[in-house]
Amino acid sequence: MNHLSNNYSSPDHGIEAQRSVFERNFGRDPGDFAFNDTKNLVVRYLRDRRLNKVMERLQHYLGQDLSQVSALCVCGGVGGEATYLRNAGIGEVTNTDFSENALGVCRARDPRLKTRLLNAETMDLENESFDVVLVQDGLHHLPRPVLGFNEMLRVARKAVIVLEPQSGWSGRILGREWEEHEGIFNYVFRWNADLLKSATRSQLLKRDLAFEVIRLWDHSGFVHRAVHPLGNGKLSLLAAKSIYAALTPLNFLGNQFIGMVFKS
Ligand SMILES: C[S@@+](CC[C@H](N)C(=O)[O-])C[C@H]1O[C@@H](n2cnc3c(N)ncnc32)[C@H](O)[C@@H]1O
Repeated sequence: MNHLSNNYSSPDHGIEAQRSVFERNFGRDPGDFAFNDTKNLVVRYLRDRRLNKVMERLQHYLGQDLSQVSALCVCGGVGGEATYLRNAGIGEVTNTDFSENALGVCRARDPRLKTRLLNAETMDLENESFDVVLVQDGLHHLPRPVLGFNEMLRVARKAVIVLEPQSGWSGRILGREWEEHEGIFNYVFRWNADLLKSATRSQLLKRDLAFEVIRLWDHSGFVHRAVHPLGNGKLSLLAAKSIYAALTPLNFLGNQFIGMVFKS
């Protein structure tokens, strides 16, 4: 499969070709994924920044005691965001991915997490079987990203959370239109508030819903490189926070999208 073919020219829409590339990537030394558990102040801040914003809204809608809440992470890789949710107090967190190697690393690094091998476009799960369903940087890999989102809406009882690239000129300039790994391409699908609402309403119709959307700047690699000369301590953390504070008035032009749908 390459970017000159249509994804529907293969019976599985190119999923198996993508899966084998990710499988090889996640088959590397598990130590390569230790950054998910780092205590480095700067890396921790950069990795958790978007999820901290999500957690604040989840607590608003679901209450402070999250011990009875279940969460499903879609395209969750080795489980970085699943661990974050578990550390934040969510009682039961299941990490899913289509890479068995990724889930193996996940189980080794955080035995508290459950894992399920799933294709995000067709999840073999009951309707409304998890309170919260979250994806971070995953839908844009799918040949049919909105289908993946529709699956999340179906499986979620209370909330669907999407952390993905934001549509608009900033993403087009700073980001890539296409991602390529070992000759396999995916289009980088970007979201906005209208798309989130239209895709949700089409499926959930007139059901009582609340939507929340955050647009922001987020470029961990760039900020990490910028503050690196200051070391890995509090000074560097302060500098990273200052960069994002300075960008806050320009968040309406940001490159990242956080979309949240709360079912009543
Ligand atoms: C960029 S990584 C993001 C991993 C993780 N969410 C994170 O933020 O660190 C994309 C993930 O999506 C997974 N993925 C891609 N297509 C998938 C599909 N059709 N079904 C399930 N997982 C998929 C890949 O295996 C990979 O783990």
